[in-house]
Amino acid sequence: MPWYQANDAGWNPRWYEWYFQRVPVGAAIRARETAAVHALVAPLIRAGQHVLEVGPGTGHYTTWLAARCRQVTTLDASPEMLGYLAARLRRAGVTNVEVRRGRLPGPLELDGPYDGVLAVGVLNYVDDLDAALSTLVAALCPGGWAVVTMPSRSLEGRIYQLFELFGRRRIGLYTVDEARDRLQRAGVAVHRVEVAGLSRGGVTLVLGGRRIEGSGSEARRGRPGSVGVTD
Ligand SMILES: C[S@@+](CC[C@H](N)C(=O)[O-])C[C@H]1O[C@@H](n2cnc3c(N)ncnc32)[C@H](O)[C@@H]1O
Repeated sequence: MPWYQANDAGWNPRWYEWYFQRVPVGAAIRARETAAVHALVAPLIRAGQHVLEVGPGTGHYTTWLAARCRQVTTLDASPEMLGYLAARLRRAGVTNVEVRRGRLPGPLELDGPYDGVLAVGVLNYVDDLDAALSTLVAALCPGGWAVVTMPSRSLEGRIYQLFELFGRRRIGLYTVDEARDRLQRAGVAVHRVEVAGLSRGGVTLVLGGRRIEGSGSEARRGRPGSVGVTD
């Protein structure tokens, strides 16, 4: 719809960092989200791995990933965000991150398969969530891990949705069950879900799991793969 911004338009990395670092509510939301993302990724990431991060933005998670694995390939739709990220990595002397432009749902130019994929705050904006999730899962090696976030269908999520509407961005909201089912149908055995935000319903759902062997058709037929989901 023409009124809404394109995924690659309107991102201002400086404003973005200002909000999440200097505005108390932004900083509090980011702190809770970061704790949840780190808690899910830390047990999965290994020193020898090649990890794909889609929607790295200003690189809040990129430098953390880069310090914990062999190689990170990042892919973002916004040239402004990519420029900021590349400069940040240069300043920090980080040499094991490749910065590329690309847009979900794809197709994406990738050098995988990858041992893991991280997508924080990016699935919010895609028009076709199932196609985007399939692209991410297809980029994984069998048994590879995925940690992704989706906005929560909660009061806090609705406030966030309204806030995004002022920026001419349309976002989808999901219950824990909906989010888990969508990821599972794409071929990930979801083993953990965390709710992050300022209230009980949170603003962000953080989901983690591993690609199901032979996923795709099998997973879409509804093969059970979820173990010990926390919700
Ligand atoms: C909310 S920011 C999240 C940035 C970072 N992951 C973080 O948590 O701080 C969303 C990022 O996703 C990117 N993005 C939005 N839609 C996208 C799409 N369809 N494909 C790839 N990147 C996209 C934006 O350019 C932006 O950098």
